[in-house]
Amino acid sequence: MTQINENFLKLKAGYLFPEIGRRVSSFCTNHPEANVIRLGIGDVTEPLPAAVIQAMHAAVDEMGARETFQGYGPEQGYEFLRESIAKHDYQSRGIEISSDEIFVSDGSKCDTGNILDIFGGQNVVAITDPVYPVYVDTNVMAGHTGEVDSTGRYEGLVYLPVTAENNFVPEIPREKVDLVYLCYPNNPTGTVLSHADLKKWVDYARQNEAIILYDAAYEAYITEAGVPHSIYEIEGAEEVAVEFRSFSKNAGFTGVRCAMTVVPKSIQPMTADGERCDLHHLWNRRQTTKFNSVSYIVQRGAAAVYSPQGQQEVGKLVAFYLDNARLLREGLQAVDINVYGGVNAPYVWLRTPGGQTSWDFFDTLLEKSHLVGTPGSGFGASGEGYFRLSAFNSRENIQEAVARFQQLLG
Ligand code: MLT
Repeated sequence: MTQINENFLKLKAGYLFPEIGRRVSSFCTNHPEANVIRLGIGDVTEPLPAAVIQAMHAAVDEMGARETFQGYGPEQGYEFLRESIAKHDYQSRGIEISSDEIFVSDGSKCDTGNILDIFGGQNVVAITDPVYPVYVDTNVMAGHTGEVDSTGRYEGLVYLPVTAENNFVPEIPREKVDLVYLCYPNNPTGTVLSHADLKKWVDYARQNEAIILYDAAYEAYITEAGVPHSIYEIEGAEEVAVEFRSFSKNAGFTGVRCAMTVVPKSIQPMTADGERCDLHHLWNRRQTTKFNSVSYIVQRGAAAVYSPQGQQEVGKLVAFYLDNARLLREGLQAVDINVYGGVNAPYVWLRTPGGQTSWDFFDTLLEKSHLVGTPGSGFGASGEGYFRLSAFNSRENIQEAVARFQQLLG
């Protein structure tokens, strides 16, 4: 008899965003006349930068000529892209990450899940709550948890609440944890950690032989000084942290697919026999077996992000979405809603008005204002009573959404 991976049966009904999609499409079927504005999933809306398009067109032409055609590329990514990443994202900030510590991938979502292949099943895993659901679900799938309880928490995971009460800064746990997921700028709360806050985590990991999985997919949105752009700005982080970055949210690659995972060679975890081993080597082994990297055309497009033209265009895109976030923030504050995030991130996190549950507010918004957001409780039990709005949309839609919020709540 064929056995299945029964860990999948432990998963809650569905992944959050498809669940929202189902509710919205059922509403639209019943109200075909409604002009629904979607501020739910954090998916970009603006076209790709011209520099990226030009580079991808040129790469398509290369693929069409025998002399320049490319077959399988290096599993780790082409050197032209890895070098640009190392230079622009790290070395220019005084961080010593070399190109061979960078692995090009097809997304941070994929790699934050895939990375579990190289970790054992006995690790105590800590996540913030609320959290990007991928970290939880991939651990459930890998059999690292028990069953889910009525609040949506899985037995065996260590939850680190991040709420207005602790200023959205996760506290160091009392128990010893082995793997810690941190996402900053944060999805879903849009908040950030200071250098000092992040240092506490790096120090904890160094003292406890833990590893931090640091998701920096929203790094481009940092506007305030003193907010770390990379965990490797913290002394010693290169011994304990893997960093994930993406072209999705800065250059609009959600549909193109290109990201990167940094695995420094100095991370040397211990085997059960007390031997040190090289995490970089394990990840390289995993990638060369299970992955053939991203297409040449896409990697050429990603490399163009680092050209002077690309940098300027990406800067404009990010500024555009940040301005949307500001409009949402200010528009909600004007009707006395408590709002967080949205300054260093494309997400605005708010307290639901009148103490409504997150899903009740979701339904009210959809039915009365034809607006879609993401219920905070969908990101974890501590997200109950909160709601997330994505700033990824056209200016027209954001302005219209603000007007509808003000009409509903004013
Ligand atoms: C979100 O809405 O949280 C994002 O779409 C997450 C992602 O990039 O997968």
